[in-house]
Amino acid sequence: MKHLLSLEKLPLADFETILRDAKVFKKERGAHKTQPLKGQTWAMMFSKSSTRTRVSFEVGIRELGGNALFLNANDIQLGRGEPIQDTARVIGRMTHGAVIRTFAQSDLETFAEFSKIPTINALTDDEHPCQVLTDIFTFEEMHGSIAGKVVTFIGDGACNMPLSWIFAAAKLGFELRIATPKEFQPAAEILKRAGGKIVVTEDLKAAASGADLLYTDVWVSMGKEAETAERIKIFNGYQINAPLVKLAKPGALVMHCLPAYRGKEIDAETFEANADTIFTQAENRLHVQKSILNWAVS
Ligand code: CP
Ligand code: NVA
Repeated sequence: MKHLLSLEKLPLADFETILRDAKVFKKERGAHKTQPLKGQTWAMMFSKSSTRTRVSFEVGIRELGGNALFLNANDIQLGRGEPIQDTARVIGRMTHGAVIRTFAQSDLETFAEFSKIPTINALTDDEHPCQVLTDIFTFEEMHGSIAGKVVTFIGDGACNMPLSWIFAAAKLGFELRIATPKEFQPAAEILKRAGGKIVVTEDLKAAASGADLLYTDVWVSMGKEAETAERIKIFNGYQINAPLVKLAKPGALVMHCLPAYRGKEIDAETFEANADTIFTQAENRLHVQKSILNWAVS
């Protein structure tokens, strides 16, 4: 039984398989030779908002021959306090796989354990593995192998996006720089566990210097809305804008996992100047989700 719960636990060979097959799914959209989810129904249980992840999984499941059953966690009994263990045992007996977006990583892990069906992390507070797989796929599609390159993440260094990047860096052999205020540095224990070449700094300019990819994410992740005012003060200046892009390598890519808040983590002009990359990155969610689903049932 395969689960995609975190990039930390994903073996390198599986990274490579998912990235390789995503190319085929992209190329053959509309004419897939196989229907690996034929006859299957996949549950999509979401406790947080989503545009890209929801649409890409729903479309991807259908285009691979399966049915997607979207369950807003607040509409099912889970939202009224039914334990995750019981929800998992019910869904596991009726469906063939699950895509889960929730808060605690431990809830996702409990679901996988009790449901006994392939379970995919569609974002938790700790990780967003499907997004980083797509980001790497997009980088390699536009710029060649990511091995030996420099990826600079700017913004909240303790949220799900940089944490998934941290676990990818050591495995795929690129340097990761995280430019973040000291209050939002990733835990030292996580960096130690991941290994690899990772630099954490408050110095935005040093982090961007010579980078092959500048990457950012929202300052206020889902679930942290009560901290909005404080975060806006602390993250002020941690922005991708034209002067910062000038410090990166000529031709460096600028990516954003979206949704984007202009004037906060990226300015409007830089966003529009890089819209082709950013929306290719968004589109690639579909092709990579198909590859993840195919991997999960293979
Ligand atoms: N990037 C991403 O996961 O977007 P959604 O929250 O819209 O799914
Ligand atoms: N860090 C963001 C990612 C959104 C795709 C969040 O958790 O809201």
